[in-house]
Amino acid sequence: MIRLENIEKFFEHGTQKTYVLRRVTAEIKEGEFVSIMGPSGAGKSTLLHIIGMHDNAWSGEFHFSGQAVHRLKPKDRAELRNRNIGFVFQSYHLLDHLTVYENLEIPLSYRDIKRSDRESIVADTLDRFQIVGKKDLYPNQLSGGQQQLVGVARAVIASPRVILADEPTGNLHSSQGREIMQLFKRLNAEGTTIIQVTHSEENAAYSDRVIRLRDGWLVND
Ligand SMILES: Nc1ncnc2c1ncn2[C@@H]1O[C@H](COP(=O)(O)OP(=O)(O)OP(=O)(O)O)[C@@H](O)[C@H]1O
Ligand SMILES: [Mg+2]
Repeated sequence: MIRLENIEKFFEHGTQKTYVLRRVTAEIKEGEFVSIMGPSGAGKSTLLHIIGMHDNAWSGEFHFSGQAVHRLKPKDRAELRNRNIGFVFQSYHLLDHLTVYENLEIPLSYRDIKRSDRESIVADTLDRFQIVGKKDLYPNQLSGGQQQLVGVARAVIASPRVILADEPTGNLHSSQGREIMQLFKRLNAEGTTIIQVTHSEENAAYSDRVIRLRDGWLVND
């Protein structure tokens, strides 16, 4: 479902080029649950943002579900992303001017879902994540852990084919973290492809396979 070939990314400072990803080649099949691990600064978030089609400044080939992403126009990439991918950001990335309720509604707005159905899906999700009481608050009125929960809820709410999660439990209590991993495991059993970045061996144990990055290089697969 996801095929990466020689993905490279660098930043330029004056005349100096710093590579963040080097010739990354990997394949992730539909229905897999994969963890990306590696030291801080290895390029894990960078790689996840490329797969999530949030980053357009890279070279190489990226095939997603038969489509050549590297050849798509930004508008078509965004459409492909919005229809297929749920993303949990390392830094939550909730929209500050929208309430929790409104943040959760956004992914549903990309799908053809009736307004009344949208309302009930949001209500169910608020309930499932035990954040009903927070629905009218803005992100800056939530704790870090609560923002992370909303970020996970937003990523799964529209039942995407692929969930990409960057340290999805980093700010949660261990029991809440386990609940998120169990939720991912259940969604994966139902067919959702999941790629998570994690520093935690415990979280990685929920996945089928680990991809390791070091200084931008894939060290094994
Ligand atoms: N805008 C930028 N300009 C220059 N270098 C950058 C920029 N953004 C990221 N980098 C560099 O890219 C490298 C990889 O960053 P990335 O965020 O992918 O690491 P990571 O593996 O996710 O680390 P962590 O585990 O700490 O989240 C880092 O060395 C970082 O300094
Ligand atoms: Mg990171």
